[in-house]
Amino acid sequence: MQKQKILIIGSGGREHAIGWKVAQSPDVGQIFFAPGNGGTGKIGINVDIKATDILGLLEFAKKEKIDLTLALPDDLLALGIVDEFKKAGLRIWGPTKSAAKLEWSKAFSKNFMKKHKLPTAKFEIFTDCEKAKEYVQKQSFPIVVKASGLALGKGVIIAKTKEEAFKALENILVKKVFGNSNNEVVIEEFLVGPEISIHMFSDGKNYKMFPTSQDHKKIGENDIGLNTGGMGTIAPLPFVNSELFKNIEKEIVAQTIQAMQKDSNSFLGVLYPGLILTQDGPKILEYNARFGDPETQTYMRLLETDILDIFNACIDGTLDKQKIVWKKASACTVVLASSGYPENYEKGKVISGIEEAEKNADIVIFHAGTKIEKSTRQDLVQNLITNGGRVLGVSAVGNTLEEALTKAYKAIEKISFQDMYYRHDIGQSALKISKII
Ligand code: AMP
Ligand code: GLY
Repeated sequence: MQKQKILIIGSGGREHAIGWKVAQSPDVGQIFFAPGNGGTGKIGINVDIKATDILGLLEFAKKEKIDLTLALPDDLLALGIVDEFKKAGLRIWGPTKSAAKLEWSKAFSKNFMKKHKLPTAKFEIFTDCEKAKEYVQKQSFPIVVKASGLALGKGVIIAKTKEEAFKALENILVKKVFGNSNNEVVIEEFLVGPEISIHMFSDGKNYKMFPTSQDHKKIGENDIGLNTGGMGTIAPLPFVNSELFKNIEKEIVAQTIQAMQKDSNSFLGVLYPGLILTQDGPKILEYNARFGDPETQTYMRLLETDILDIFNACIDGTLDKQKIVWKKASACTVVLASSGYPENYEKGKVISGIEEAEKNADIVIFHAGTKIEKSTRQDLVQNLITNGGRVLGVSAVGNTLEEALTKAYKAIEKISFQDMYYRHDIGQSALKISKII
């Protein structure tokens, strides 16, 4: 068989991790990343096309005769890249625009959950600010206010007081801080319990579970401070036993896939529900219509099966026949960020120590905000420099979670760039919970 040409769209740690895994497939020839980063350029060819430039991507895929395109970022899925590629007769993996609506419209996903009796926080949806305020007056606090559309991870406000809730409503509905089209809010009950990430592959009808994982979304240790894209992940979770896992699979995963099919809106791709394990059982916080990041950096270290076979089985509707094997080990990823992230930070700092850290075979470092410094002089070694808030993901595998974490933190000691920031407590709350239950 001729080797396949793959196009991976995006530029984060998730895209590097997927590319790293794809590159291990014996069926893969060339890998292109659009636009990619300083790390993806080492395993494939970075092409200077923006991840949201659908026309540019289409043109490139046709010209290069790409065999398979992987659509990974949320905004791209919301723009309908999968529909456009399919219309052009190109092979692409990912959900259609209407299936991805589970992520890009919280109003849609909450109504979907209500209609199909899926467990989630009680909620109401508003477009009118005054009506929303009237509703808030009658609620207890904290309460959660969410912009319905995509908002770069900033659209969820946990309001401790009426005043905070009013301010969030005004920002979203009147000042339109998340854009003119983001003109709906979901107001929902505040849930209490550990938060976990569930992922599954789906071909629209069949699904296959990933192990459980957990992200650390806050910038500060002990989950303090601003929300980020994610500062570190662990998998599998030591406190989710097989009974709970089976319950999540039966009550949430299977129900969701079936309900989407029933609504003639089959979901093909990776579906990632964020859950809170409440005292009344697991509840769905939100759906993501894609691989999580940094979850994927951790997951790729545990996946043993050729991922290309899985992507193809999803597209061909044969996922039920595809065996998927996960390593019986633990993995983690610790994100190294630019100080100041998720607000203001500087770029262009020289990064050193990656090769040294990767001398340990259990360590793989995925790049997010990095790039190779351009130099006009060919004879100079080109520096790897920082180019974003989340810069690197240091991933490790071990026999236990403690072992994986120890390895990751040891590797981090070898890496440096000016103003490097990371959380020292990744995985600690999961370890504490597993001691209690
Ligand atoms: P989302 O963008 O929906 O993932 O929300 C961002 C974060 O806000 C989540 O990861 C949770 O930590 C928190 N959150 C969202 N909805 C709720 C809720 N109903 N109750 C408690 N925390 C929530
Ligand atoms: N892990 C957070 C996200 O991918 O949205």
